[in-house]
Amino acid sequence: EATGKSGYDHFMLKEIHEQPRALRQCLQGRVDELGGRVSLDLDLDVERVQFVACGTSYHAALYGAALFRAAGVPAQAFFAHEYAVATPPIEDDLVVGVSQSGETADTLSALREARGRGARTLAVTNVVGSTMARECDDALYIRSGPEIGVAASKTFSAQLAALNLLALHTVGAGDDDRREVIAALRDLPGDVQALLDDTDAEAVAREYVDSDGFFFIGRDKSHPVALEGALKLKEISYAHAEGFPAGELKHGTLALVTEDTPVFAVVTGDGEAARKTIGNVKEVEARGAPVVAVTDGESDVARYADHVLEVPETHARTAAVLANIQLQLVAYHVANELGRSIDKPRNLAKSVTVE
Ligand code: G6P
Repeated sequence: EATGKSGYDHFMLKEIHEQPRALRQCLQGRVDELGGRVSLDLDLDVERVQFVACGTSYHAALYGAALFRAAGVPAQAFFAHEYAVATPPIEDDLVVGVSQSGETADTLSALREARGRGARTLAVTNVVGSTMARECDDALYIRSGPEIGVAASKTFSAQLAALNLLALHTVGAGDDDRREVIAALRDLPGDVQALLDDTDAEAVAREYVDSDGFFFIGRDKSHPVALEGALKLKEISYAHAEGFPAGELKHGTLALVTEDTPVFAVVTGDGEAARKTIGNVKEVEARGAPVVAVTDGESDVARYADHVLEVPETHARTAAVLANIQLQLVAYHVANELGRSIDKPRNLAKSVTVE
């Protein structure tokens, strides 16, 4: 097993470091930068989209739905287990199952429900020949290579990249500049490597390992990153953590914010989302909470932060991937400090094949 880990202490840390390669594999042969084109082996006419997924893949689905909406296409992400029993109306929707394993029972069940109601279905998965890939009308493979750690890491990044390809291929970039998005995707593996080579995540983890709880906030494309940051920390460290769309924290959970609950604020770019999230950062700072800003430095969020985890400057879409990797590393190092069973957390399974 030690050789399988290539010198890393855990599979998860190895897989975190495999992300530049996983992303390169995902993009390989699918992006023609000169022509500004994305070519996938999919022939889809997309009017509306419903995503179904669970766990980490649900966070990728939230991000994917945002990309389609940005291109003017109605799109929504659903928890697969909810969708299966309370199926929303389907009107010419493409129903996309996002699943690393392609075997999650809840997601399979939602897709079967959608198919039964006449929807066209697409599996976005890592596993060729998985049940989901076989049962859906089409499959888009994220090509991450096998992931051993129960908590998803490299597959989440590749899901975000693949969903960008899917949106560009079927509905375009919307208000974003297509060439800029494609250039950012091309640069993403190198940007991830630069982040991995120079990160303060371990120091931040050591500083806050004994906290009472952890909060993660972000807006728009940083919202799924906040949710995923919290989930990762819970899964492998067993610390109490919650992620929110940044504006929601003040509507209740602010009551739990103290000087012993660090707040991780994901703030990239300097647009309206960043500005408003900085407003929320000030609210928690005023309650004495330590603030860790995950940022590309384009806004002045660092002024209100106790620590900064930097991400290379890039497009808002790819910034989400990079910010999430800083949070993967924080979760890993907190769990490692606590001596947790990182690759096989208690009570969890890599793939849940019961509903
Ligand atoms: C399990 C795993 C999670 C994963 C979820 C969905 O609960 O522990 O890490 O995100 O299943 O898995 P999938 O294979 O469908 O992405």
